[in-house]
This record gives sequence, structure tokens and C-alpha cells, in this order.
Amino acid sequence: MQSQNHIKALIDPVFGIIARSAQDLNINTYVIGGFVRDYLMGNEIPKDIDIVAVGSGIELAKRVASHLPGNPKVSVFKNFGTAMINHEGQELEFVGARKESYHRDSRKPVVEDGTLEEDQKRRDFTINALALSLNKKNYGVLLDPFDGLGDLKRKLIRTPLEPGITYSDDPLRMMRAIRFATQLGFTIHGDSLRAITENKQRIKIISKERIVDELHKILGSTKPSVGFALLHTTGLLKYILPELKALEGIEEVEGQRHKDNFWHTLEVVDNIAKTTENLWLRWAALLHDIGKAPTKKFHKRIGWTFHGHEFVGSKMVYTLFKRLHMPLNEKMKFVQKMVRMSSRPIILSEDFVTDSAVRRLVFDAGDHVEDLMTLCEADITTKNPRKQRKYKSNFKLVRQKIVEVEERDHIRNFQPPISGEEIMRTFGLKPSREIGILKEAIKEAILEGVIPNEYSAAQNYMLQKGNEMGLKAKI
Ligand code: CTP
Repeated sequence: MQSQNHIKALIDPVFGIIARSAQDLNINTYVIGGFVRDYLMGNEIPKDIDIVAVGSGIELAKRVASHLPGNPKVSVFKNFGTAMINHEGQELEFVGARKESYHRDSRKPVVEDGTLEEDQKRRDFTINALALSLNKKNYGVLLDPFDGLGDLKRKLIRTPLEPGITYSDDPLRMMRAIRFATQLGFTIHGDSLRAITENKQRIKIISKERIVDELHKILGSTKPSVGFALLHTTGLLKYILPELKALEGIEEVEGQRHKDNFWHTLEVVDNIAKTTENLWLRWAALLHDIGKAPTKKFHKRIGWTFHGHEFVGSKMVYTLFKRLHMPLNEKMKFVQKMVRMSSRPIILSEDFVTDSAVRRLVFDAGDHVEDLMTLCEADITTKNPRKQRKYKSNFKLVRQKIVEVEERDHIRNFQPPISGEEIMRTFGLKPSREIGILKEAIKEAILEGVIPNEYSAAQNYMLQKGNEMGLKAKI
């Protein structure tokens, strides 16, 4: 048990209000969880605060709210004995100390009052069980019965109880362990890792939304590969993202091998994490090769191919998002588009980079062309320095050309310079196939650089093409 005082952590006036309210009710109260952990790590302190009361957390919350400016509303979750106050954008979560697993998301609403230490014991990790007293007699003192502070120093994720119990109390904690290891750069204790591996199939009882929350946090960290590698080694991956698991392995036929697309993907995700915070672009990096497992083939003459994997992969994105109850909205469409187009800039840069190829890329990718380039640059994982240099300088050239072509031709969000109505008026046509043919011909001429993307050039081109098709201009 530590007796360090951390009164400095409690400068937020809200702690004074909580302490006074608890004193009024004659109950002992503590700050616990992420707030204490992040403070002790010297990290940015989270806005949200978890409070544990040795008594009724709900009563305490009500008393606190009555003392707060504006008397904020208290949301009570009676089944779980918890209450929440949203105070000026800050979430204050109150819970009564429990003997049993207590967590608000836990399925079983067992609420048996306990002491602080009994409550700490039922929490997920020693580093999350650290508590600071808000009581008069020892205000600011750290209560740490499981040496969470030592684990913070050792950078260790460890459970207060025998890990099998902690993880079966709430199997989501298996993912939380991996997520914290990834976010904080910590190691998971060997006993915990074994327990996770043994209990992996219990992840099935956890809601998809909570799993995805953890995946987002893993993907949002500086080195997401740490988390995905752990999901893989513990065996959780096949329950959560079997499409990724299927990418693992190298096959060899007649002396020809292909790369291990799982480990390659993890490298790509780490690369992209250095250049973008865009979570959906990071998802695209994670999923960009999933079509490779179902499309893999060996051909005697050409070796391994993954024909059409981008298209197949983009279809799989839908299935995966649906299975994980993720949004099937424009975010998903963005990921699909990135996966579908993920090889385009590479193919383009392998060759001589022509203006028309760049125009087509901009036309197809629209506003997402920079994101696509970012994805493709992250996809360069070759260890051959000569190839690295070549790809990088080619991509630089593509990016430059995108800017030049865009300034000149305005292909992004392309609007045809000549409308269908104008074509009908010009040639006195009723709605017909010819209009589509002419519109397409004008678009193609612009993309190919035959004419600039301007009205008068397009008008002349329309007249010329119409003429060739045997149409007579009426005006
Ligand atoms: N907790 C737990 N088991 C869970 C979830 C949470 O024991 N499955 C406990 C931990 O003590 C945790 C506290 O509840 O510190 C608050 O949970 P939460 O707000 O989800 O996590 P934080 O630790 O605050 O961290 P983060 O905000 O990064 O998720």
C-alpha cells in the first residue's frame, strides 16, 4: 500500500465539490481509473472522471449535481448502480464499490456492496485500479493495493486477480489489454497472455460495437501493428477479423513464393499511421489487401497472381462492416473506394507517368486522390533501397502532376462542359443514344488531352463529332 500524496492531481474544483458532497453523506469516495493512471504517467489528463463511492454512487451523484453550477441532469443506471453527470462537456461517472464485477457494460447487474479494495480487485488491470482518496483524513493519497504504480514503471499490463477470473468477468478486457498495450507501449504479463489465448472464443459474447470501439483505439494509436500482432498471436483475430487472418502465410510452389500479406499489411498500417490521423484511411490500409486471400492463384508460367483482388476486397469491406455493425454510410464507401483503387497509382507510377493517366486517376478518385496517394505511399514496404527510391520518386512525380493537371484541366469533381440539353438543342435531337455517345466522346477527349476542359473547345469538338456521326447542327 502506498502513502504518496497526489493532491496536485486534484486541482479541478469539481473534486472539492465531490469531496464535500461525500462528506455530507458520510461516505468514503475515491477517483479511480484512467484519470489516475494518466496523471501518474504524466500524460494528458483525461477530461472524464471515474468516481467510486463506498456507499451509493447514485446518491453521491445526485448530491454532487445539486452543488454544481446549473444543476446538471443525473443519468441513473439503476441496474448497475451507476450514475453519470455531464458537466460542461466533462463526464463524471459514479459507481458504488462492489464485491462483484461491476462494470456498467457487464451483462450481469450483480450489485453487492464492497470495500474499496474489493472493488479495486474486480477491476481490469492494476494500472486501472489505482485510486486517489477524496476523504478529509487522507485527501490526495494514492491507494494502490496491487502495485499498479510498479506496473506503470515496469510498463506492464497485469490483472489484480488471477487473469482467468478477470477476463471471464468481462471478456472485452482481452481486447482492452491489447488496446492498452498498443496505446501505452506496455507489455502484457505472460499469465494474462496465456489466459487471453485460452479464453479467446469468449469474445463471441461481446457486442460488436464494443469490439469495434477497441479496434478504433488500436488503429488510432502510433503503432497499430502492436495490437494486430497481439490479436493474431492470442488467436482473437480469427473471431474478429478473419479476413485479415486469412492473409497470413507464405506459399511456395515450384520454388516461387509470394509475400506474407498479413505482415505486409501491418507494415502498411504503421506507415500510414505516421502520415495521417484519418481513421477511415487507416481502415483502408488495414483492409487494402483482404481480397488477396480469395483471389490467390498459382500459374505455371507467371507464378502467383491475385487477379481482381481490389474489386473483390472492396466487396468484402461491405460484408465486414456489416458483420461488425459498423456504419454502412459514406465512411464505408470511402474505404471501399480506397481498396478498389489501391493499385492504381502503383501501376501508373511503374510506367512513364503521362498527363492523361493522371487525369484519369483524378477523375476516378475525385476529392480522395490525395488520400489514395497517401495509402499507396504507405504500401511501399520493399526492403530493396533502390526500388524504395524509385517508387518514392515516381509517387512524388505523380503528386506533382496531379497539381499541374488540376490547375490546368479542373478534372476533380468533373462537370461536363456541354450538357445533354445543349447537345439536343444543337442537333435537334430527342432523348436518344447519340447524346450519351457525344457526352462520352467529349469527356474522353478531355481526359486524353485532345481538347482542354473548356466550353468553346468542347463545343467545337461536339460539332465535329456530331458531323462525323451524320448529325446536322440546327443552330
Ligand atoms: N473497467 C474495468 N473493466 C472494463 C472496463 C472498465 O475494470 N471492462 C474499469 C477500469 O478500472 C477503468 C475504469 O473502469 O479504468 C473506467 O473505464 P473506461 O472509462 O472504459 O476506461 P479508462 O481506463 O478510463 O480508459 P479509456 O478512457 O482510455 O478507455
